[in-house]
Amino acid sequence: MTVKPGATRSRLDPEPMPRRDVLGLLSLWSMATALLFATVGMFRLPKAAVLASPSKKFRVALPDTLAAGEPFVPPGRAVAIYRDPEGVYAISTICTHLGCIVHATTQGFECPCHGSGFTASGEVTRGPAPRALDWLQVSTSGGLVTVDEGVTVPSGTRVPV
Ligand code: FES
Repeated sequence: MTVKPGATRSRLDPEPMPRRDVLGLLSLWSMATALLFATVGMFRLPKAAVLASPSKKFRVALPDTLAAGEPFVPPGRAVAIYRDPEGVYAISTICTHLGCIVHATTQGFECPCHGSGFTASGEVTRGPAPRALDWLQVSTSGGLVTVDEGVTVPSGTRVPV
């Protein structure tokens, strides 16, 4: 609708916006959006890009029915825990060849990857594993067993219950 020169415009009929102003507003909105995304991205940078790994030290209660020489493997852990008349001990179930998880049996350990075999105390009976399985540090308190997967101890080390 055109307005005659000299006539007052109605508030319901605003003056049309020039194309130059529309383009100027669009560029301002683009800059504001870019600045917003840059700011959000800046706050995301300091976060670590990896997940924290679980602690190597854990505490577990041994089952009351655990027989001497029978392995107890806590869920989600690469450790076999044993109890015998001399005490409690833990053997790592990480194969010393290439790091597969060995299966604990009542006779010893079997590696499913390349066939290495180990005795119940972790000594190698069949290669290609180059050395025995690691024995891990164990402590007991309040009926619970604490195992530190990051600390090895000499083979045969037991903690009295
Ligand atoms: S990883 Fe166990 S035998 Fe190779």
